[in-house]
Amino acid sequence: MPEDINKKPFDEATITKLEIFERYLEAWLPVFINAPFSGSLLVCDFFAGSGYDAEGTPGSPMRILKTVEKFREGIIKKAMRIRVVLNERNIGKATILESRMLSEIEQIRRQFGDLISLDCCNEDFGEFFNARYADFGAQPNLMFIDQYGIKEVNDAIFRRLIALEKTDFLFFISSSILRRFPEEESVRTYFPDLNANAIRNAGHENAHRAILDYYRRKIPAGNSMKLYPFSIRKAANIYGLIFGSKHPLGVEKFLNIAWDKNRLNGEANFDIDDDMEKRQGSLFPELQRLTKLELFERELGEYIRESGEVTNRDVYDFTLAHGHAPRHGRDVMMKLRKEGKIDCDAQIGCSYKSCHKDRSIRTIKAVKNG
Ligand SMILES: C[S@@+](CC[C@H](N)C(=O)[O-])C[C@H]1O[C@@H](n2cnc3c(N)ncnc32)[C@H](O)[C@@H]1O
Repeated sequence: MPEDINKKPFDEATITKLEIFERYLEAWLPVFINAPFSGSLLVCDFFAGSGYDAEGTPGSPMRILKTVEKFREGIIKKAMRIRVVLNERNIGKATILESRMLSEIEQIRRQFGDLISLDCCNEDFGEFFNARYADFGAQPNLMFIDQYGIKEVNDAIFRRLIALEKTDFLFFISSSILRRFPEEESVRTYFPDLNANAIRNAGHENAHRAILDYYRRKIPAGNSMKLYPFSIRKAANIYGLIFGSKHPLGVEKFLNIAWDKNRLNGEANFDIDDDMEKRQGSLFPELQRLTKLELFERELGEYIRESGEVTNRDVYDFTLAHGHAPRHGRDVMMKLRKEGKIDCDAQIGCSYKSCHKDRSIRTIKAVKNG
């Protein structure tokens, strides 16, 4: 039985997880609130807990409400309907959460009328997800799956999750448990197709990357779902978030948040690739190892050189596919331009807005012998 997360103060790793979710929600909401059409949104917190930790630090449900309130003006102006679903299986915790929500509901009603609805549920995630599945097709959704352990995002749930359109999700998983016990019966039950050797060979610090890889391999051809990791080290264990979205703007926003959290690697709350050591350099140039950012610079430079001619949209797509924030793609372009290696406009954009939405597509040419 895992210790009850709400009965003690949240640790740093939990705060990191909650902040990433909160910041993503804050980036996700205005995409729809500011869109020309109005409509409705659904935010699901499937493992909601009781609302706060032992010291009154807000958990995911309170963070959702606080974030929604930030967009009050836009929501009212657009008459945007937002449904917030909070689910918690433990009856004691669900009751506490519901009572805490009573006063929140009052305040929400005063501020938003009936534009925001709050639904507190006390069900098992798997049953709840399947029972409500038809509802998820009706509007854009953001889902937070903050499980304990490993077992909730099983093969069947994952396949249903990635089949949804306009649905972004963040799920948490205790990756090092899977790496440590890949052949245990309980793990086999939930992950029958887990390759024990592949996950063992990945190494402890890469446990969450190996789990990401496991889920990525499940995505069938033709399904545009993209997954990205954020590894979280806590004591001797590696946990992590897996973010999923079918939309480049969702991916852009997640990667910006991840790179703001860790400017060294954008994917962990620790130095997952020893980049600090790599930065210090080696006395012997042949032993010099590239940091994640240096490697990206080299790979993007090679991609442009080998292609001869690309567009800023190609660079943007390459940047996201390599797990980098769009600003990195732009920085590399500007550096290569300054070094005379590519020929392009100094104002060239590298964002969803400039490359996909406004279609301000520009050409970038590799300079021969540059
Ligand atoms: C990691 S905690 C969630 C913490 C919460 N997000 C917060 O910020 O406080 C996981 C919660 O899921 C609940 N839980 C465990 N199994 C569940 C299931 N199958 N369905 C729904 N809730 C479950 C636990 O009681 C626990 O409160």
